[in-house]
Amino acid sequence: MANEVQKKRILSGIQPSGDLTLGSYLGAIRNWAALADKYDCYYMLADMHTITVRQVPAELRRHTLTQLATYIACGLDPEKNVLFVQSHVPAHAQLAWVLDCYTMFGELSRMTQFKDKSAKNADNINAGLFTYPALMAADILLYQADLVPVGGDQKQHVEICRDIAGRFNGIYGEVFKIPEPYIPQVGARVMSLTSPENKMSKSDKDQNGCVYMLEKPEDILRKFKKAVTDSEASVRFDPANKPGVSNLMQIYSAATGRSFEAIESEFAGHGYGDFKAAVGEAVVELLRPIREETERLLADKAYLQSVYRDGAEKAARVANRTVGKVYKKVGFIDR
Ligand code: TRP
Repeated sequence: MANEVQKKRILSGIQPSGDLTLGSYLGAIRNWAALADKYDCYYMLADMHTITVRQVPAELRRHTLTQLATYIACGLDPEKNVLFVQSHVPAHAQLAWVLDCYTMFGELSRMTQFKDKSAKNADNINAGLFTYPALMAADILLYQADLVPVGGDQKQHVEICRDIAGRFNGIYGEVFKIPEPYIPQVGARVMSLTSPENKMSKSDKDQNGCVYMLEKPEDILRKFKKAVTDSEASVRFDPANKPGVSNLMQIYSAATGRSFEAIESEFAGHGYGDFKAAVGEAVVELLRPIREETERLLADKAYLQSVYRDGAEKAARVANRTVGKVYKKVGFIDR
């Protein structure tokens, strides 16, 4: 329609560096499908980011395809969302180099993720790990994204992206849209089952702390049975004093739609054993249809290929336009 307002554009990415967790589902992916009506959505499998840390090539390929299938199984309709693999769109590497030259050594040195990751990978502190925020800025700025849904750990990277874009625009005029981080109102922050003061993470050393989206039901149930609680034997929401129980309540509430009050009365007078079993079962039922659909999609490689090819084509159309503009601005001769 001629007078239809241009939808705002969203871009987000997740690194296919491992299996997706219950935390990324409840905190992010689950909310993405509903955004497609209101926004123009681009979701990227950030495979180029993963190689800042050594990957096993066959595993990276498997994780990338599985993640794409899982996105679709979670309701991200490829007709309504652009789903693509970062390395399929060369514009990411092209713009990243240019942005590297507009990103300061000092500002990269201040990135907390760089400090954390270089401490964890002391034998492989490579230049890519250091310049990663410039690649992420390219990911976002290529699409002139308005909003970037990210977790708290990535807010600093959206900030530096805004700084880089502002600096570039300051020299060359309005080339880039300045994006905003987008923290959806809904979405749970899921903590580790074994150390509930930390976020549930696929890189957690303790595998019992983290539930994966495609895990077998018996493994999910076992992990919830082992979840850390406290010695009070009362199901009550109190994150400061009862982090384990409160985390389980969050998860149960997200899985069943029940309020904390309803959960408190459901388990009044019950021990933690019943409660943990109920949370485990609710999660198994929540994830079951997604796992089954993901498995079905993974068996249809031709379909998945058509999705990522189509996604790359749509993404490249937008991204190439931005690279063209940028190349011209910095003074590269038109081919
Ligand atoms: N750096 C993000 C992470 O590790 C993933 C990512 C890459 C991303 N490019 C992005 C997120 C662009 C949002 C927008 O989680």
